[in-house]
Amino acid sequence: MTNRLEGKVCIVTGAGGGIGLAIARAFAAEGAKVVVNDMNREAAEAAVEEIDASGGQAVANPESIGTVEAADGVVKSALDSFGRLDVLVNNAGLLRDKMTHMMTEEDFDLVIKVHLKGTWACGRAALQHWRPLAKKEAETGAPSHRKIINVTSASGLLGAVGQANYAAAKMGIVGLTKTWAKETGRLNINVNAIAPAALTAMTEPLVEDPEAAKPRLARFALGRYGQPEEIAPSFVFLASQDSDYITGQVLCVDGGLVI
Ligand SMILES: NC(=O)c1ccc[n+]([C@@H]2O[C@H](COP(=O)([O-])OP(=O)(O)OC[C@H]3O[C@@H](n4cnc5c(N)ncnc54)[C@H](O)[C@@H]3O)[C@@H](O)[C@H]2O)c1
Repeated sequence: MTNRLEGKVCIVTGAGGGIGLAIARAFAAEGAKVVVNDMNREAAEAAVEEIDASGGQAVANPESIGTVEAADGVVKSALDSFGRLDVLVNNAGLLRDKMTHMMTEEDFDLVIKVHLKGTWACGRAALQHWRPLAKKEAETGAPSHRKIINVTSASGLLGAVGQANYAAAKMGIVGLTKTWAKETGRLNINVNAIAPAALTAMTEPLVEDPEAAKPRLARFALGRYGQPEEIAPSFVFLASQDSDYITGQVLCVDGGLVI
């Protein structure tokens, strides 16, 4: 532990499992107080128990990301539990993959709702809280940096067969990232995105059959999917003061998938 996030309060959405859980663990290990959001309440509570047991501080939040109401609830949870908010990670997500001609309106709407609208709504809630604080700090000459880290994907940069809904949402998240960076940079609010690739409940089914997995893994320069623990340190970097001069960027933490 190097305490790079000492005193920071961080929200991680979808942190009951996979990459989000690894981020929550890494943030807590660096001294942050973490709001562990996940619509799977038991998973969120289990993550909090684990963080507490290892000497960290966390609180569970079971909002289902995708509405303004849920977003306001997550930010309120940070403020009620820890009295402040410094970092928002928009990570919650799911897949409903189908070729476009087979994709239902429900498949499209759900993926857009959770990823794109959810990211927008959580960012909006954080910015509504931060803007007046940041303006006041600018007047008194004691600014502090605040961070939003969005989660996009190789699909959101390159497109992907069977993922019209997901690719559109993840490309939209790149648009939110760059727009918010421009809207909020003068207030010392940094907004970046990470495009990860890791073995999780979302991706494990894709490599279950070793023969079928070969062409997929061949697309990675490093020849393999990462583990969530290999993704989390980049989130720590973008949450910490080491990244205070970086904004509006997409960082691919993907073993060389997008080159
Ligand atoms: N795993 C990868 O290789 C990969 C690649 C590119 C992008 N991503 C992105 O990374 C993020 C995390 O993915 P993962 O692989 O860890 O997936 P995962 O399925 O392991 O974890 C996602 C978590 O989000 C939660 N969740 C889903 N919908 C939610 C909602 N509406 N509100 C709150 N929580 C919700 C789930 O309960 C789950 O705990 C996602 O945004 C995903 O699109 C993952």
